[in-house]
Amino acid sequence: MSGTSTLLAPSILSADFTDLRTSVALAEKAGADWMHCDVMDGVFVPNITFGPFIIQAVTACTRMIIDTHLMITDPDRFIADFIKAGSHQITVHQEACPHLHRTVQYIKSLGAKAGVSINPATPISTLESILPDLDLVLLMSVNPGFGGQKFIPSSVEKIAKLHAMRNGMNPGMVIAVDGGITEENAEAVVGAGADALIAGTAFFKAQDPVATAAKLRGLCR
Ligand code: DX5
Ligand code: ZN
Repeated sequence: MSGTSTLLAPSILSADFTDLRTSVALAEKAGADWMHCDVMDGVFVPNITFGPFIIQAVTACTRMIIDTHLMITDPDRFIADFIKAGSHQITVHQEACPHLHRTVQYIKSLGAKAGVSINPATPISTLESILPDLDLVLLMSVNPGFGGQKFIPSSVEKIAKLHAMRNGMNPGMVIAVDGGITEENAEAVVGAGADALIAGTAFFKAQDPVATAAKLRGLCR
């Protein structure tokens, strides 16, 4: 993925759910590449969000890539439903999938791109065997469960490690970073090797989301 401009994925978690269509349109207007949708089950993470029904509603509002982040245990049960609802990319957690290779192949067999996410305490080395099969890795830079948390600084070193591993094993794979992304840390995150930035609070709670998006994408610093 190296050499292309930074991809931006606003996280719907911080959007105004009383006016979802307007929130999605704002992301589109800001030139966002993906709409990041955070699915939480109250078991894998200490919060509950939404299921395929909301993904279907977001899909109906946009032509952006629907990037679904499943923070749920045993995601295989629901992967087909999320793809049917419009998800182009499905990311599961390494920590939630005992048979990760099977899960990744299952996502691909249903025609979606396959991603794997790791929590801040999970080492990059746990991805070594699955890396050649992945379309993306979603590196968590906060403990998943909530928007608006502070970026964990040691994530930058993990991004650099993953970047080196990716270049050797699967150069076409996308590195996305999720959690606590701001205008202040975006340059360091991209400098370490991230291709895609997930931004909830920084985008939707910004005074001027369109201008913030341009800064996050590196179009103006
Ligand atoms: C956290 C979610 C994130 C979250 C990011 O569990 O996976 O996608 O929405 O929100 P911010 O950008 O506010 O940290
Ligand atoms: Zn997420």
